[in-house]
Amino acid sequence: MIIIIDFGSQTTHLISRRINDFGIKTKIINPEKTNSFFASKINRKSCKGIVLSGGPASVYVRNAPIINKKIFSLDIPILAICYGMQLAAYLLNGKVRPGKTKEYGPATLILNKKSNILNSLSQHSQVWMSHGDVVIKPPTGFSFVAQTKSIKAAAMTNEKKKIYCIQFHPEVEHTEYGNLVLKNFVAACGFGLSRSKIDVARIIRRIKNKIGSAKTIAAVSGGLDSTVAATLVGKAIGKNLIPIHIDSGLMRPGTTERVIDYFEKKLKIKPIIIKAQNHFLSKLKGVTSPEKKRKIIGKLYIDLFEKKLASIPNIKYLVQGTIYSDVIESRGSKHAANIKSHHNVGGLPKNMKLSLVEPIREFYTDQVREIAKKINIPTEIISDQPHPGPGYAIRVIGAMNRKRLDMISTADNIVIEEMKRSGWYHKVLHSFAILTNTKSTAVKGDDHNYGEVVAIRAIVSKDRMTGNWAHLPYNLLQKISGRIVNEITGVSRVVYDITTKPPATMEWE
Ligand code: XMP
Repeated sequence: MIIIIDFGSQTTHLISRRINDFGIKTKIINPEKTNSFFASKINRKSCKGIVLSGGPASVYVRNAPIINKKIFSLDIPILAICYGMQLAAYLLNGKVRPGKTKEYGPATLILNKKSNILNSLSQHSQVWMSHGDVVIKPPTGFSFVAQTKSIKAAAMTNEKKKIYCIQFHPEVEHTEYGNLVLKNFVAACGFGLSRSKIDVARIIRRIKNKIGSAKTIAAVSGGLDSTVAATLVGKAIGKNLIPIHIDSGLMRPGTTERVIDYFEKKLKIKPIIIKAQNHFLSKLKGVTSPEKKRKIIGKLYIDLFEKKLASIPNIKYLVQGTIYSDVIESRGSKHAANIKSHHNVGGLPKNMKLSLVEPIREFYTDQVREIAKKINIPTEIISDQPHPGPGYAIRVIGAMNRKRLDMISTADNIVIEEMKRSGWYHKVLHSFAILTNTKSTAVKGDDHNYGEVVAIRAIVSKDRMTGNWAHLPYNLLQKISGRIVNEITGVSRVVYDITTKPPATMEWE
């Protein structure tokens, strides 16, 4: 297997998943556990490669996560990514400094020297960077093998010792040859390659073992993740599953009807529908902080569930459609920085009375789609764009009220209609509108109109960890913009968001 030492990168699990996709086992350990792990002869023998992940710290700050430098003398190939590279340079007496220019997002990698890790890459290729510090002097025995426009040290290797350090992230999909870099590494570790398959029968077996014959409720939003999670549990425990859908008013129009249709007609399990639109609006009244909004919504969902539960005897489990990117962005590992708490992870009350069942917690969105196809979820649910749990509440910057909810859902509808009509809807992960809480002047007819600015965001991404803004045709943007300003009273202007992730997140809040 390959050992991954986790320094808190948002994408540590993604490194593991990419390597697993080659049919190779991985184990993620914390830096603090490294010494004791490698003290064991059996562990040293079974470990064929070591990856040092990225992380948010700087090597020279106090309490930066660190490892014993003996690891570089174990005679095991090492791939050190981002912070891992800086740590390797620092521990082996090279030099690391804050970079003059920081690099976040796309950069062009230029190869300077032959190296095993960058074998078969084009001379120039796109990589994704996310760093402030940079290695300015390689340790003895190492040399720089690739650069970008801004830094000399995009990759540095000691070919003889098989220690490969790269500043960019090979695990993210926007690094053009990321998979090839990882393949080169596992080849250097002595592995042949095969592709692992998702074993749905095993997932269902594990659910059955966990739940047995206990009654279980599933929180179903109408989106793909919760539908897949509930269906997997339905397949494991049959009629002991009770799907519950809360109509918060924050989801897209038609969502509740679709939930009823799928569960009643296709799965033959009648869902409970709780109508709570006014409840959500009144709890969100005057709340402007995105973190508070998420917490309020998360808590309200659980409160409503628990209230409903009081009327159904003997429920023990709650199914949630949490997926891996939800977990990692709500501080999934010890050294990761907290970006924001996704409501279905960070917002859960501490005293919740139900045990959680999260059958797809380990999977990324593209893997969830693969599972969905295998269990016959209808195509319109699989190919629908995802909608965040807190819904329109985090797409209305500032406070939510009935009028703004109507404005955002109308704007959102226009975006979706036009994206579908033009054939672009399925080419992007997300396309949506944001009510920006900024005002600007327009003249509608002869009337002066001081209305709100609506932003449009459309993102291309497979795994949600990174994303690029979609290069939508001008005439489509024109159509969307024209319809929004004309059809929604109170909107004066439309702008298009052209920021990559990173540095920007997909949602504005
Ligand atoms: P960000 O904005 O973090 O979004 O780059 C990544 C993905 O997560 C979705 N998202 C959420 N989903 N609860 C959710 O269930 C949330 O609080 C939440 N915030 C963001 C976002 O729509 C995108 O798909």
